Amino acid sequence: MLAKPRFSDKGLIELFSKVEKCEVLVAVHQVCEVLTNLMESKDLYTKNHSEEVAVISYMIALAMELPCKVADMIHIAGHLHDIGKFAIPDEILKKPGPLSKEEWELVKAHPVIGAKYIENIKIFRGKGGVIEMVLHHHERWDGKGYPDGLKGENIPLGARIIAIADAFSAMTGRRPYRKSLSFEQALEELKKEAGSQFDPFIVGAFLKVADKMLPEIKTYLKEDVKDAKTFGNKGGTESKSAIC
Ligand SMILES: [Fe+2]
Ligand SMILES: [Fe+2]
Repeated sequence: MLAKPRFSDKGLIELFSKVEKCEVLVAVHQVCEVLTNLMESKDLYTKNHSEEVAVISYMIALAMELPCKVADMIHIAGHLHDIGKFAIPDEILKKPGPLSKEEWELVKAHPVIGAKYIENIKIFRGKGGVIEMVLHHHERWDGKGYPDGLKGENIPLGARIIAIADAFSAMTGRRPYRKSLSFEQALEELKKEAGSQFDPFIVGAFLKVADKMLPEIKTYLKEDVKDAKTFGNKGGTESKSAIC
């Protein structure tokens, strides 16, 4: 039995409960998927990364018993989290060796650039909304992240969830400079970083449901991701979600 979430993020829940028009949300979701899939399709190593982050973030949100509309928006932010990388030259993003200081600064600007790209989308605005999730997905629980060095619960909830999904997807994905970790090894790494890099409660929520979720994540992400564009298409997890 999952412990009840200790947060009471009423602002976030109120923010997304105002999103009444589900058909708009469905359309927004589809556009976000197409955009980020297009952006990533050129790179073998990051292909499907945002899709993975979106799916895993959504599962974590449901594991935390967040309302469906909130989980939906976290899912959309998962698709968009790295959209700012569109502004970073390919030769930097795909550079096999270490980055220079200037190159690293440019890469680190991608959350700010991404948030700027989507700032005109009204339903993404507000405290803890999608724009803030994109802006803060590289903050760390201990305050050593970027761009603002936010600490603990000052980091928007969705951004804390996406940070964990992002790390999990990156660790289990192929990269030119290292082997991928197994799902089990990646969970161990998350456990090690709980309380320093990641919100320990959210890592705990993920770990508690991981046994049930992992077979489905493995099936969905590794075999069917090209065909099934939304998680619900697999028919595995029941959801009242408008988009998944
Ligand atoms: Fe990122
Ligand atoms: Fe999606």
